[in-house]
Amino acid sequence: MRILVTGAQGQLGLALQRVAPLNKTMEWHFHGREDLDLLDEEMVDRMVRFLQPEVIINTAAYTAVDQAEQEEDKAYQLNRDAVVYLARAAQHTGSKIIQLSTDYVYDNGQTTPYLETDQVRPGGVYAHSKRAGEEALIAIDPAHVIMRTSWLYGPVRHNFLQTMLRLGGEQTQLQVVYDQVGTPTCTIDLSEAIVQILKQMDQDPATGEAFQGIYNFSNEGVCSWYDFAVAIMRGKHLPCMVQPVRSAAFPTPAQRPAYSVMDKSKIKDQFGLQIAHWQEALERCLVQTEG
Ligand SMILES: NC(=O)c1ccc[n+]([C@@H]2O[C@H](COP(=O)([O-])OP(=O)(O)OC[C@H]3O[C@@H](n4cnc5c(N)ncnc54)[C@H](OP(=O)(O)O)[C@@H]3O)[C@@H](O)[C@H]2O)c1
Repeated sequence: MRILVTGAQGQLGLALQRVAPLNKTMEWHFHGREDLDLLDEEMVDRMVRFLQPEVIINTAAYTAVDQAEQEEDKAYQLNRDAVVYLARAAQHTGSKIIQLSTDYVYDNGQTTPYLETDQVRPGGVYAHSKRAGEEALIAIDPAHVIMRTSWLYGPVRHNFLQTMLRLGGEQTQLQVVYDQVGTPTCTIDLSEAIVQILKQMDQDPATGEAFQGIYNFSNEGVCSWYDFAVAIMRGKHLPCMVQPVRSAAFPTPAQRPAYSVMDKSKIKDQFGLQIAHWQEALERCLVQTEG
């Protein structure tokens, strides 16, 4: 199985590089922006036709949630238009696209875990642009796979964990919001789940055919950003006191969902996945994080 990964230098791209298996039946091709610029349709088409991958994992995205409010065009170019370029190219090669998306598309006001079939109501430019990418892929590619994930963090690149570790080393007190709840997802756990599914597809083509549609994936459990921050400080023994505050104390250009927990039954049942609790995943990730 030949696999093309876009956005190779992003946090998920780097985690996939770490867990991608070295074996004869899986051939991985990782490309970052410098050698696969997704805004260049011709380049995308050339690369896909040249590699003829069975699977394309699109981890590249415009992920600056607040900045997107000022840069709508840029967000849509990468989160929607580039998905169209990939989907068009994949039509020529029959490649299966795994498009990463976000829990932020749900935000419909419910307070029970979101199912893939629940109504979406994206708020803000980033969430709208990610939903537009989903819609574009669904329209072009009947065999699409969309994996919605949430609160992604990992041992490298810019993310909440890295911000907390930096601030926890610089400050003795920190205020973090406690009225937004969701589930952190470690990039390593998400990558391992993707690899496990690809291995099943590699061994059994019927699995690949059945792998289609929208799937939620996060770690297990529920917490607020405050809980997550406290767990990080404790895990690294940082002498920084975290204080819970309401979101209203920290107005941001883009609004975030107050409730953003996803139900993972579909992906767990279909592929027999065991998903770790977010605290266990964090402990593992902290061991892999320097400092
Ligand atoms: N981060 C989260 O909390 C979160 C939550 C839910 C869902 N997601 C979704 O999960 C996926 C992975 O997110 P992530 O956190 O790994 O993102 P990330 O760390 O921001 O990485 C995105 C990558 O896309 C690359 N990129 C930017 N413009 C590009 C272009 N024109 N062509 C090719 N690549 C380009 C970036 O390149 P540079 O390195 O050059 O900037 C970066 O390496 C995304 O679909 C995201 O929407 C993320």
